[in-house]
Amino acid sequence: MNIADLQQPKEGDARMNIADLQQQAEEMVEWLAVYGADPEGGVTRLLYTSSWIEAQQAMDRKMRAMGLDTYYDDAGNLFGRLASEDPEAGTILTGSHVDTVKCGGKYDGAFGIIAGVLALRYLKETYGPPKRNIEVVSLCEEEGSRFPLTFWGSTNITGTAPADHIAQIQDSEGIPFVEAMNKAGFGLGHYRSPLRKDILSFIELHIEQGAILEREQTTIGIVEQIVGQKRLTIECSGEANHAGTTPMGWRKDALRGASQMIVAIMEAADRRGAPLVATVGKIEVEPNVSNVIPDKAAFTLDIRHPQGDVLDAFCEEAVAICFAAAQDRGLQVKVNQHLDVRPVGMDASLLRSIETICQAQGLPYRLMPSGAGHDAQIMAAHYPTSLIFVPSHRGISHNPAEYTSKEDLAAGVQVLIRLLYELGYEKETIS
Ligand code: GLV
Ligand code: MN
Ligand code: MN
Repeated sequence: MNIADLQQPKEGDARMNIADLQQQAEEMVEWLAVYGADPEGGVTRLLYTSSWIEAQQAMDRKMRAMGLDTYYDDAGNLFGRLASEDPEAGTILTGSHVDTVKCGGKYDGAFGIIAGVLALRYLKETYGPPKRNIEVVSLCEEEGSRFPLTFWGSTNITGTAPADHIAQIQDSEGIPFVEAMNKAGFGLGHYRSPLRKDILSFIELHIEQGAILEREQTTIGIVEQIVGQKRLTIECSGEANHAGTTPMGWRKDALRGASQMIVAIMEAADRRGAPLVATVGKIEVEPNVSNVIPDKAAFTLDIRHPQGDVLDAFCEEAVAICFAAAQDRGLQVKVNQHLDVRPVGMDASLLRSIETICQAQGLPYRLMPSGAGHDAQIMAAHYPTSLIFVPSHRGISHNPAEYTSKEDLAAGVQVLIRLLYELGYEKETIS
């Protein structure tokens, strides 16, 4: 593999030392992981919590130290800007999300921001002001781990954030979304409107979160399509009663009903087979006491498939299963869908450019789908968008054991630098 030095677009430029890039990428991953470091391992940075605020503030300082102009928008997205001499020239945006799942890894989201910062610093130091503005964004939220809301960062930028929904939602401790946002210093009128009309392209670099690249000993994954995804919350209500005096046949056991639903949904998913995936990742029971029959059981259901019609059909099947099981057990059931994103293709012309870059740099690459959700799928409906993967060791993600080698991190940054150079400095027109 010919990555001893970053290939330079123009003659006479300083050459970047790949060993330095590897070290910087690895050090920055460790540095950011301190914010929200969990005593039991892993990183937890939920939207608008203190660890999230500290991470955004630290990233702001880091971006400025690396020579970028920074600013926030009202949602809490943080931008580092490498300004063009022509401010009207439009903006090439790169980056990813700063929030994590509970007890997540150090790379998911974080790497895309870090890579963007390193790339912009390199471009600024090597080539000076670009023809078009280039910005790196530390998106405030993608995961949906604190509130029943996902992609809050990117939907604000594209003007598709669900404004009514946020007035109604709260976290598991009962803190309303708007209160959490205001307490963190964000909300309408605090900074500037998140809505962007100047973005020419969005490029997201991310860890694969699967094992394909590593198994195939391939360094770069160029995403062709991101799966569609639905998330539901299913709430079952029955009757709390004494665990010792209520015969089995007389119970309205909400947890038993929920269990029946979950098993039946998983069996239905098995029957449909790959590439459909269905996950129940969260369950809440009330009163959650060992000698009381539960009167409430709520669980989440995450469903993904690359074809929108299959996703819709399976979702309908799952909901029908829930209503049938509720009837069977004498329960009430409420189904609330809080995410519905369609499968989305990435920009074909950017994909070709990345292929050419990988070929020129001697980096093994492949085209692939993404089973994980990414901000790129929100941006893609509005701007030409690309999603680039680097390998995840053993395919482990959403787990403290998430790991990507410094060689692979640096290879991803190399590709990003080259692509941002083409988009920000070279191309006369961008479609
Ligand atoms: C985001 O990480 C998701 O795909 O759940
Ligand atoms: Mn994630
Ligand atoms: Mn992610």
